[in-house]
Amino acid sequence: MVTTDIRLARPDEYDEVGRLTVEAYQADGFLAEGSDYRLRLLDAADRAAKAELWVAADGANLLGTVTFCTPGSVYAEIGKDGEGEFRMLGVSAKARGLGIGTALTLHCMQRSLDLGFSRIVMCSAWNMAAAHRIYERLGFTRIPERDWSPFPGNDLYAFALDL
Ligand SMILES: CC(C)(COP(=O)(O)OP(=O)(O)OC[C@H]1O[C@@H](n2cnc3c(N)ncnc32)[C@H](O)[C@@H]1OP(=O)(O)O)[C@@H](O)C(=O)NCCC(=O)NCCS
Repeated sequence: MVTTDIRLARPDEYDEVGRLTVEAYQADGFLAEGSDYRLRLLDAADRAAKAELWVAADGANLLGTVTFCTPGSVYAEIGKDGEGEFRMLGVSAKARGLGIGTALTLHCMQRSLDLGFSRIVMCSAWNMAAAHRIYERLGFTRIPERDWSPFPGNDLYAFALDL
């Protein structure tokens, strides 16, 4: 049984959070060799500066992370007024299946409510099956009208949940 505390990452943890995020995406084959996105995922300090960088930790042991952002943030991809958004959810491969990804998603839902948002949105690669399982189990539904592709061949599915 793993007990996790969800809190903002500390500055001395940013490098580790970046590595954890890359490792989580790589473990499932979601980062192509030489991908520019690897550098974005590594740059957790930028996410902490321009959005909210959350971690799930078991004591000093970091197990997962998510970035929460508000409309207008440089990290917002599809969020509009009144909508919270989250991105770059990742759980260490050694801690999968323990509910950490679900807990981080629930945290973003609560964060949205705390900030007065009536909806939470996010987008995710079409083949991120474990993530989609979490979102659908929590009541998110697909909003295909907001699907988009940052570049050809990288199709992102949009999801939303009214809070
Ligand atoms: C998505 C991710 C964060 C989930 O983390 P986690 O802590 O293992 O998540 P949870 O334990 O809360 O739940 C995972 C759920 O996915 C299910 N699952 C796992 N692999 C799956 C697969 N290939 N297909 C369908 N469902 C799958 C699990 O059974 C579980 O559902 P259940 O509780 O109903 O059984 C983790 O797999 C990850 O880091 N993946 C790589 C990065 C990624 O895809 N990020 C999403 C960005 S939008």
